[in-house]
Amino acid sequence: MYLYLNDRIVPKSEAVVSVYDHGFLYGDGVYETMRAYDGVVFMMDEHIERLRRSAEMIRLLLPKDNDGIKQAIYETMIANNRTNAYIRLTVSRGYGPIGLDPDLCKDATFVVVAEEMKDYPASMYKNGINIIIAGTRRNLREAINPQIKSLNFLNNILAKIEAKDAGAYEAIMLNFKGYIAEGTISNIFFVKDNIVCTPSVGCGILDGITRKIILDLAVREGFRVKEGRFKTGDLFSASECFITNTTLEVMPVRKVDNVKFTNGDITRLLRRAYKQEIRAYIANVKSSGPSLWGYQ
Ligand code: PDD
Repeated sequence: MYLYLNDRIVPKSEAVVSVYDHGFLYGDGVYETMRAYDGVVFMMDEHIERLRRSAEMIRLLLPKDNDGIKQAIYETMIANNRTNAYIRLTVSRGYGPIGLDPDLCKDATFVVVAEEMKDYPASMYKNGINIIIAGTRRNLREAINPQIKSLNFLNNILAKIEAKDAGAYEAIMLNFKGYIAEGTISNIFFVKDNIVCTPSVGCGILDGITRKIILDLAVREGFRVKEGRFKTGDLFSASECFITNTTLEVMPVRKVDNVKFTNGDITRLLRRAYKQEIRAYIANVKSSGPSLWGYQ
């Protein structure tokens, strides 16, 4: 296996960074997760844009322009001969002496990983997953804005520990005001009175790329959508629930805490529509010029 480290492809065994890297010392950095299907990185521009926004919010200068980032991603996929890949782009503040001052680090550390993307078990999509409402609250927007997709992940990890302890797949965090925010690695949706509901970005969540697609698809499919502030009671009285992210796509939820959802019609419809959206995107990229293989 090969990784892209700073400016070149290296074998995994040589892909090491310093213990003085501020990503290691302080969680000072940003990342993105993308998924490639059949040699095409889905929503690549949107992910790179979000990486750039995250970096700007922590005053980190990305070491590459957008084309340079795309090339690094393709090169990593090619080096590993992967067309269906889980891609993780990590950019940390870089190597520097101990101390919080970002200016201590001269060059950011830039890493691309392209691992094999194994599909999640079909049974998860068929039966749905169990999730919990975590006691851990989502970071306050005024503290660490969840819109920054940062390496500082302890908030999410604390909630994940709660999920593991409860035997659940995902934990949903509330914000400090007690409104539903998001999962540790996902956005949450639920259906109530045939309205597709999801917490607004103002609730303090990551502006998920999958979330945005699902909102657009729901409208296109003729559903009313509501982005707003919701309490757990709204969720518990919903007829359907699902979570979204780049790798899970649309994952049905069977149970939140002890509340069971019996219906899944709208979830299934949106999942199909999302799959179709991916297929259309891939076909469009392939028909409009070189994709992955254009870089070889
Ligand atoms: N996680 N909320 C959080 C906290 C996330 O970490 C993610 C993504 C999402 C969904 O965003 P998107 O639809 O753009 O993937 C929401 C990725 C998958 C990860 O951490 O690897």
